[in-house]
Amino acid sequence: NIILMGPPGAGKGTQAAKLVEKYGLKQISTGDLFRKAIKEETKFGVIAKYFISFGYLVPDDFTIQMIQEYLEENINTEEFKNGFILDGFPRTIIQARKLADICSMFNFKIDAVINLDIPEDVLVKRLSGRRTCADCGKSYHIVYNPPKKEGVCDACGGELILRDDDKPETVEQRLRVYHEQTQPLIDYYTKEGILKEVDGTIDLEDVFAEITKI
Ligand code: AP5
Ligand code: MG
Ligand code: ZN
Repeated sequence: NIILMGPPGAGKGTQAAKLVEKYGLKQISTGDLFRKAIKEETKFGVIAKYFISFGYLVPDDFTIQMIQEYLEENINTEEFKNGFILDGFPRTIIQARKLADICSMFNFKIDAVINLDIPEDVLVKRLSGRRTCADCGKSYHIVYNPPKKEGVCDACGGELILRDDDKPETVEQRLRVYHEQTQPLIDYYTKEGILKEVDGTIDLEDVFAEITKI
């Protein structure tokens, strides 16, 4: 079981998709879960919509409740038998502490935290060129990782759209929130002895090769 960590646009979703394919791991993206909840207008969706559209984190108690309910329902299914990738969770120290409790509750362990290290100017370019599948959430990039057919998801045929929170003003706010609330987790997991740094600026196949080594 691994955690993929890194700022908005670092490539967490891109690498998670490749890990799913190669190792049969299950991806758990809190961002994808929130976007699904927003689409389905569930209780979590109604709350999350507001925070996400302004580039803030969804409050810890809701996020923790959502992931806990998700794990209770899914952890014993076939899809989880090879392990999982947490993509975008935890994002605060409180969430990290809670994850440790959840681990003992469900009797699993986090083996490694992979931090995708990448400077801000690169992130902005990535997010402005990103296109996301409206149906399955897969990420593409108009220059760095284009789909086979423009505007159409390779994986499911869904429509590729610009994510609501990829507008420049919102991206700036997401980066601020990352520095304030999520970056401290690098220290937290370094102290736990399970942090692995990976250069996130190189070609996505090379990033994947580095992760594969770990
Ligand atoms: P979330 O959906 O997790 O967004 P994020 O963390 O901002 O990260 P992104 O999905 O934007 O980036 P990514 O790292 O997955 O990059 P990608 O692979 O797409 O969360 C959204 C919101 O939900 C949050 O802002 C918050 O409000 C809420 N939320 C979620 N989790 C929460 C939590 N735990 N607590 C509270 N709130 C929470 O790649 C980006 C682009 O770059 C793509 O176009 C891709 O094709 C391209 N690319 C990727 N790798 C490379 C490469 N090596 N070279 C060139 N291009 C590349
Ligand atoms: Mg993502
Ligand atoms: Zn799709």
